Amino acid sequence: MSEIIPEVEWYKALEIAKLSKRIIILGQIDTGKSTFAKYLIQNIIKEQSVCFIDSDIGQSSIGLPTTIALKVYSKNYINKNPSNGIVIDFDKLFFVGFTTPSISPELFLSEFAKASSFAQKLNMKTVVDTTGFVLGEMAKKIKLEKISILKPDLVIAFERKGELSHILNEIKIETIILTPSKNIVSRSPIKRAEYRMNKFKKYLTNVESYAVSRKLIHGTPIVASDGTIVGLFTEEECIALGVIESLDRENVFFSSPPINIKAIKKIKIGRVSLKGLINETV
Ligand SMILES: Nc1ncnc2c1ncn2[C@@H]1O[C@H](COP(=O)(O)OP(=O)(O)OP(=O)(O)O)[C@@H](O)[C@H]1O
Ligand SMILES: [Mg+2]
Repeated sequence: MSEIIPEVEWYKALEIAKLSKRIIILGQIDTGKSTFAKYLIQNIIKEQSVCFIDSDIGQSSIGLPTTIALKVYSKNYINKNPSNGIVIDFDKLFFVGFTTPSISPELFLSEFAKASSFAQKLNMKTVVDTTGFVLGEMAKKIKLEKISILKPDLVIAFERKGELSHILNEIKIETIILTPSKNIVSRSPIKRAEYRMNKFKKYLTNVESYAVSRKLIHGTPIVASDGTIVGLFTEEECIALGVIESLDRENVFFSSPPINIKAIKKIKIGRVSLKGLINETV
């Protein structure tokens, strides 16, 4: 992400955000949500710790596509990520397995509830970034459900011309409506797909091959083949993602960053395939 150019109206929003406990940022794609989230965090950590939930499962800023990522920034945290380039920097992953909530709103929301409950237990100021899926009835339902799960006391809405009103009209929470920055660089669907691939490529730069019993596959019946992304779990916690290499009657063979394979008690099959990606990487 290039240098952030704050808009004048952001300063007041930041002051209000400093006094809020849980903040959710809403807006269509390319409205500057993630940039604003970064701006908030960079400034808030000068005074207090912040828990960031990156719930954009498609264009995630700190996590990986197909996951909700959570990171705790302690006060005075020093960001060691370069300002340009792909960032992968999280404390916890909540595996969803797809890149747009409309695939399974229930699954998406249940993982969001886990992330939200983790943040709540920390009792820390929380900032939530969201997907740009806001138009239509389903998007509205998902956003309202997220709001009822998180219980934010501040909504920051990036709006061009009333496109969020069907959501905002339904809530009674302090809301700041901001105009999307003039410095936004829009990204084409191809650029978005490239971004996802680059995230996975970076994550999968150094991988090992593993095999686990098919009995560890969570849920019934699944369509999985080589290239399918999987979530790797110790009981309830997703500790890494992997990519299926092959399957036989008994085992699933996959590659992932180095893990303690004995700790893996469950794998969840995603609905995204990265076929060819590993070959491209090496
Ligand atoms: N205030 C700003 N200053 C400089 N660059 C900006 C600013 N706002 C947005 N941008 C740039 O515009 C692009 C899109 O912004 P951003 O990723 O924050 O949007 P978004 O709403 O999170 O999009 P998406 O819904 O796809 O996640 C990014 O490349 C970002 O660096
Ligand atoms: Mg974003």
